[in-house]
Amino acid sequence: MAIENLMWVEKYRPSKLEDLVNQSSIVARLKSMLNSPNEMPHLLFAGPPGTGKTTAALCVARSILKDYWKDYTLELNASDERGINIVRDRIKTFAKYFDKRVEIPFRIIILDEADEMTSDAQTALRRIMEESSRICRFILICNYSSGIIEPIQSRCAIFRFSRLGENDVVKYLKKICRNEKVKYSDNALSLIYELTEGDLRLAINMLQSCSVLGEVNIENVEKTAGISGKAKIGELVRLSLEGKFNEARERLMELLRIYGMSERDIIKYVNEEIFKLKPNNLDEFAETLAKYDYRIILGAHPDIQLTAMIAELSRLGREGNLPKG
Ligand SMILES: Nc1ncnc2c1ncn2[C@@H]1O[C@H](COP(=O)(O)OP(=O)(O)OP(=O)(O)O)[C@@H](O)[C@H]1O
Ligand SMILES: [Mg+2]
Repeated sequence: MAIENLMWVEKYRPSKLEDLVNQSSIVARLKSMLNSPNEMPHLLFAGPPGTGKTTAALCVARSILKDYWKDYTLELNASDERGINIVRDRIKTFAKYFDKRVEIPFRIIILDEADEMTSDAQTALRRIMEESSRICRFILICNYSSGIIEPIQSRCAIFRFSRLGENDVVKYLKKICRNEKVKYSDNALSLIYELTEGDLRLAINMLQSCSVLGEVNIENVEKTAGISGKAKIGELVRLSLEGKFNEARERLMELLRIYGMSERDIIKYVNEEIFKLKPNNLDEFAETLAKYDYRIILGAHPDIQLTAMIAELSRLGREGNLPKG
């Protein structure tokens, strides 16, 4: 089974706007816009992590483009260096092959982390938005709308997402527990809420890692929060060094997606683990890890970089004559 299907955040991502928790005024405004999609402006979703921005954007795309939504929606991370060029190229092909089916009033481009774009890139984006408005609508997503240049803001309808409250989060977690047949206690779910501060993605991830330990009770929540995946790093390193590439990659995805560990933390902990093992080519390991750390800061695609890192660790492990086991 694909790792995505094992992840509760994906499994429990609402597919309809009305299933979004808490953001009721946003849902109402969006739904009234969806009544006449042809008049829909570009949209700007701003707000804290894990509050439903990406989910809402996908729901809008689904609702407008129906069965074709996957083919006519482009989802991009704007902070990616190549972001703006991909958008430009893709729009050129859109324009060439514009599909006049009535069901498809326009294509939708979802640009995540738009506030991470430089202001030059944003200026370029603004022109693209103007030139392509006949065939595309943009949904820009950001944490802070202040990171978006004024001329773009003024071309968008702005929606501000707020942090989810305790009742909403606990209710959602309970629903998941019942569905997954996991035993839970109310105070453990409240603790998960406290630890995750209204970020529902983080809360669901914590619930899932906690459920692996058995019951969702205070003790297990504390354990989950405490170990926070760090113990898994040892396993990741061991599998990489043994050349078990696929298993190592699965661990890696679990750390990123289920434990929510950041890419740079993964590299930092891998570094600590390797240091403990004292391979005779420690200098090469150090240089390799520094290389991937640097690439990730520069904005290279983290999944690709970390996967390449695992492959390189395998090679260095063979050359470093590490003790087996
Ligand atoms: N308002 C919500 N209603 C229901 N589920 C939600 C809501 N917000 C978040 N979730 C859950 O959290 C997961 C992540 O949500 P989503 O990707 O929409 O967050 P986001 O606001 O885009 O966060 P980020 O800024 O980190 O990208 C979803 O898959 C869903 O399971
Ligand atoms: Mg998102």
